[in-house]
Amino acid sequence: MCGIVGYVGDRNAYEILIKGLHRLEYRGYDSAGVAIVSPSGRINVYKSRGKVSNLEHYCKDKDTAGSTGIAHTRWATHGEPSDRNAHPHYSEDEEIALVHNGTIENYKVLKDALIQNGCKFQSETDTEVLVQLIEYIRTNNDCSLVEAVKEALRQVVGAYAIAVIEKGHPDTIIAARKSSPLVIGIGEGEMFLASDATPIVEYTKDVVYVKDNEIAIVSKNEPLKLVNLNNEETSIDVKTLEFSISQLEKGGYPHFMLKEIFEQPTTLRDCIRGRVVEGGKNIIVSGVLDSKDKFLNAKRIIIVACGTSWHASLIGKYLIQDMCRIPVEVEYASEFRYSNPVLDERDVVIAVSQSGETADTLAAIQMAREAGAYVYGISNVVGSSIPRNTDSGTYIHVGPEIGVASTKAFTGQVMVLTLLAMAIADLRGTMSKEELDKIGAEIIRIPDYVKQTLELNEQIERLSLIFTYAHNFLYLGRGYSYPVALEGALKLKEISYIHAEGYPAAEMKHGPIALIDAEMPTVIIAPNDHLYEKIVNNVQQVKARHGSVIAIVTEGDKEIKNIADYVIEVPDVPECLTPIITSVPLQLLSYYIAINKGKNVDMPRNLAKSVTVE
Ligand code: M6R
Repeated sequence: MCGIVGYVGDRNAYEILIKGLHRLEYRGYDSAGVAIVSPSGRINVYKSRGKVSNLEHYCKDKDTAGSTGIAHTRWATHGEPSDRNAHPHYSEDEEIALVHNGTIENYKVLKDALIQNGCKFQSETDTEVLVQLIEYIRTNNDCSLVEAVKEALRQVVGAYAIAVIEKGHPDTIIAARKSSPLVIGIGEGEMFLASDATPIVEYTKDVVYVKDNEIAIVSKNEPLKLVNLNNEETSIDVKTLEFSISQLEKGGYPHFMLKEIFEQPTTLRDCIRGRVVEGGKNIIVSGVLDSKDKFLNAKRIIIVACGTSWHASLIGKYLIQDMCRIPVEVEYASEFRYSNPVLDERDVVIAVSQSGETADTLAAIQMAREAGAYVYGISNVVGSSIPRNTDSGTYIHVGPEIGVASTKAFTGQVMVLTLLAMAIADLRGTMSKEELDKIGAEIIRIPDYVKQTLELNEQIERLSLIFTYAHNFLYLGRGYSYPVALEGALKLKEISYIHAEGYPAAEMKHGPIALIDAEMPTVIIAPNDHLYEKIVNNVQQVKARHGSVIAIVTEGDKEIKNIADYVIEVPDVPECLTPIITSVPLQLLSYYIAINKGKNVDMPRNLAKSVTVE
């Protein structure tokens, strides 16, 4: 949540910061601000409620000159979205300015103590406490900014990635992290910092991922220096970014979400590259062979995740149970971490997270590791916190996902979970070589099947017009299609703000059937699988109550075609691969309904791409 950017060098900082904020806007867009050390020596802070474009508008006639600065785009936690609560925050004497991503849990205690010492606050945020504390320590102890930051962070409980600038030292930014991401880009005579690498990749591919409890001294002319809270210098591990600027642009599409939906043939090809080899006869998933004993001896697998990643995990459960015959539990990370779980060294915990930064998922795996479980991570963002805190794992390799509604990451996660299940099944001998080879050969064709499914775009766009003004939607599925129903409902509600519920189709009779009437559309995911006949009954039950049914069926379907009001026919694939195909029309349907309603699909209200707070 929240995005921070910083620049120190010879270029115009404002332009770099604003561009960076646009790239990070997916992390939060309640308000935004910049702080720039001006050539006259003061720190100019400009802030504005709303999106980054509001800030740009506000800054049009302002003095934004200067080549050192920090900036922030906010997702409010403490204090409503307003100009006053927007970052950067000044110290009372306006000598320093700070941006922060995270939450300061003990801010109340610190704030009360500072008020008692005469400090005056301008905002309701937890962040302002930090800048006032740093300034208080700096002036009372007559110490350097970095010393004051260190001391302040020793007193702070919570999560943070911060960047601080000081009027007196215009060529340096002090940055630090704990449980919130922070990346530093190293250029020639200039440095960048940001919550992720997307604002940096345009300028340099050399980056350093700051670790928890490290403080970075980011200067124009000095090499990067990292120290810990005990004042010991820590090592610098420079990594090379592997994505390019073109992957961060819309590429002719009106929205990132649509671009990402249409990218799926490519992203799925990238996802299986090097993993499905010899025509599908060999499945290689990193971390599985290295931790062979763990997967061979696992008495149980627990998958922890949130949101869309939780839906992908539920599909993972069906896959692993079916293919590997290991009991699997799927937990919301936020519940798991507080449920006093019973864990031991024969448990394998799999964390699934697109961003690799979700606070609850990170906390869940830290807890699992402490309890002795083996932790395997599946993430998209290379170098993010979750992969760095697991015993082993793999990336989905679908490229940066910018749209807040997850699409290509979902299909990538399901694909990796499928491959993982196959690799474990092969290890444990729970599936025959022939069965595995057959699925392997079909997986190679999946990018083409997805491409074929995307040809339904116009049909779905037309269909969306009929349902744009529905107030409620029900999504039903059985078996592998049940998590797809959950995901379809989540996609619709998060971008169109229409209430939608996903349900196991058979459970409909135990409650939701009461909602069905002529006004209530039901989307039924009904591919040709072993539960097909059962779901035909469910379609009939909805129709008998005058509900209208949109059914996602397999090409050549005969029965449902005659009962449902609208059918969307998708390519025929093995049952375990159906979620990757059937989820695509649901992504398009929610996209078009939201567009028809005039909603901002890439930045839906109240949401942010990565949820790095509890
Ligand atoms: O980065 P993660 O996969 O851990 O994020 C989990 C959820 O916050 C995320 O999937 C969220 O539900 C999306 N907005 C769904 O589209």
